[in-house]
Amino acid sequence: MYKSLIKPILFRLPPEVSHTLGLQYIRWAPKFKTKSPKENILATDICGVKLSSPIGLAAGFDKNCYAIGGLYDLGFGFVVGGTITLNARSGNAKPRLIRVPSDSSLINSLGFPNKGISAAIKNLELKRNSKIPNIFVSISGNSLDEIITCQKMITNICTLIEINISSPNSLGLRRFHQKESLERLIQTLNDLKTCPLFLKIPPLFTSDVENKEVLNLIETANLNSIDGLVTSNSHPVSTNQLAVGTGGLSGAPLLEKTLKTVSRVKELTPDKMPIIACGGISNANQVWTSIAAGASAVQLYSSFVYEGPALPKTIGHDLKRMLKKRSMKSVAEIQGPAPIIN
Ligand SMILES: Cc1cc2nc3c(=O)[nH]c(=O)nc-3n(C[C@H](O)[C@H](O)[C@H](O)COP(=O)(O)O)c2cc1C
Repeated sequence: MYKSLIKPILFRLPPEVSHTLGLQYIRWAPKFKTKSPKENILATDICGVKLSSPIGLAAGFDKNCYAIGGLYDLGFGFVVGGTITLNARSGNAKPRLIRVPSDSSLINSLGFPNKGISAAIKNLELKRNSKIPNIFVSISGNSLDEIITCQKMITNICTLIEINISSPNSLGLRRFHQKESLERLIQTLNDLKTCPLFLKIPPLFTSDVENKEVLNLIETANLNSIDGLVTSNSHPVSTNQLAVGTGGLSGAPLLEKTLKTVSRVKELTPDKMPIIACGGISNANQVWTSIAAGASAVQLYSSFVYEGPALPKTIGHDLKRMLKKRSMKSVAEIQGPAPIIN
């Protein structure tokens, strides 16, 4: 129904308008909740945080943590709210979000429009007594102080915090690509943390060669005991369709590099460090391949926009069938090529 009826209407509207409508729908529309089975073979955990499935929603979809409960009801195993900054930001000039349906991709130069951390906390506190299993939040800022203040304000209500130093649309983040700045950031965050801290890194193969700056970043994060990495953020691109001329590419064209990045990061980091794969993932086969390459879980964004609200449940359903086909009892057993299901 989404693809034949709702999507053609939504896609006729400007992308940010349809996004706002979609978020309202997800927050308010009644959902048919399916009971979670007693034995859930998709259940997994990262850093001790229990997830009902390894399929998560990436940061940026629900920037103000407005519809987190509704998003969980759609079947995501985890939902990353944000990216939130200390104070409200209006973001970059418009146009700043483009759809490219020919390859199921999106290009954005939003630049963190959000209502600030206090507004996000208010939204999350309203949900405190609801059945949200976990609260994962992405925070960012242009200075150490800004990020640390965000962490202090939100850490007690979070089960995991993602630090975003990799959005291609916020030049202020580049300072954290310097070894000393990143070291200080992670060490200060670690001193204050009450839940696992993940770092979302820039993509490793934006050209055909590995990017030395990103390799250094991984090494610094690793040496300073970050709990896990999200690989990766959107890929920097230039286009005169955006008011600011540059932005981040997301969606299907990223998949190959995401898988290459996961394998490479796996080689570079200790075995126990979880990697969350992100970029171009849209079906169970790709979730399987990401996990087989070394990821503990995955996040998606663009495919959810193109495929609609049934996607997380469809992927979960297919992944279960794939596990059963291989007689595997959990996602932790995934290895080798994905089995074909029909
Ligand atoms: C419109 C839009 C907004 C985004 N905003 C954020 C954000 O606020 N923080 C962040 O870490 N990533 C953000 N991202 C990047 C996504 O979280 C994700 O890393 C990227 O889209 C690749 O995943 P995908 O190919 O599944 O879309 C955004 C992506 C899009 C398309």
